[in-house]
Amino acid sequence: MQEPLNIEEIVRRTGLEESLLRFYESEYPDEFPKKILRGGTLFFDPASILIFRDIHERHQSGEKKKPGQTERYARVIAVTSGKGGVGKTNIALNLAIELQHQGKMSVVLDADLGLANVHLLSGITPRHSLMDLIQNKTDIADLIEAGPEGIGVVAGGNGILAMADSHRHDRYRIIESLVELEKAADIILVDTGAGMGQGVRDFLIAADEIIFVITPDITSLADAYGLLKALHKERMEARPIHLVVNMVQTLKQAANVSVRFTSCAREFLGREINNAGYILRDNTVSLATARQTPYTVYRPMSRVSKNTRSVAQHLLKEEIPSKPGNSAFSRYMNLIRGHNQMNPPKRKSA
Ligand SMILES: Nc1ncnc2c1ncn2[C@@H]1O[C@H](COP(=O)(O)OP(=O)(O)O)[C@@H](O)[C@H]1O
Ligand SMILES: [Mg+2]
Repeated sequence: MQEPLNIEEIVRRTGLEESLLRFYESEYPDEFPKKILRGGTLFFDPASILIFRDIHERHQSGEKKKPGQTERYARVIAVTSGKGGVGKTNIALNLAIELQHQGKMSVVLDADLGLANVHLLSGITPRHSLMDLIQNKTDIADLIEAGPEGIGVVAGGNGILAMADSHRHDRYRIIESLVELEKAADIILVDTGAGMGQGVRDFLIAADEIIFVITPDITSLADAYGLLKALHKERMEARPIHLVVNMVQTLKQAANVSVRFTSCAREFLGREINNAGYILRDNTVSLATARQTPYTVYRPMSRVSKNTRSVAQHLLKEEIPSKPGNSAFSRYMNLIRGHNQMNPPKRKSA
């Protein structure tokens, strides 16, 4: 195989500016071969040169898409749980990093409208947040901040919840704008709040897939089962649900918890759950948090990081062949629009 190339080399050989290459890459992700990971850095397959030239020519001639090509949208995976404090934010962020390492352009969207903290764990100071989007101060393209290891981060806005819960329109505005985000990424991990409040529900229903985070704690299991039942009522049968058991002491404990949850789901709801793996309890997580660094960056070879890598691999293995023209967020908006024609939303006066 030919030597993989870094971005500088691609710039030199194509004669195109790096920003333009990055733009083409994000605009037409499915045209490129997988990037190659070496020593923590992603390199381009040499075949990418021809592809960049081809895309550039198409852009010059004004014909942007390949003939017969439809827009491709990201896989939207919501990370959720029945109760708070189970590790959702850490898992969403570190999964995004691991997926990025495996060649998937990944974005974490902080949709915990009550306690937005993805930016804190990523160590970034966002210029904008979803709050600006709601207030019409910016559009989605400006919201994507450069996060660790090349992932994108869309910061949440604290205090949206009170507002979003009363204003359905604001939530819809967020979701509508996210369609643009789906064009820019391969995978979007949506970090939600816990439970089934209005601010969470929309994101869960909109997502293509859901990751349930539970811990061995008995209340976590009960709350997760409650949430699963609530989702079941929304008739989300077709949506894959992946289970991650976090903060386990031993492998045996992890297996026990996951069997209990999945067999309960099967027996009482007839619902199949994919076992996506487990993550050990490890103080690497709090040490990393204190440094405002994701744990997979702080200690890539720690047990938690290896566990997270396995979960990422599970997700890639379970990948449904890409879905041209199928946007999770626009599908959801269509659903709502259909529904709203029968029940126009009542906007509370402030
Ligand atoms: N695998 C783990 N081992 C040890 N501590 C963890 C682990 N996962 C999460 N934590 C800790 O649990 C707390 C909650 O994590 P967080 O990701 O904020 O959860 P959530 O988003 O569900 O509220 C944090 O203090 C975090 O450091
Ligand atoms: Mg959180």
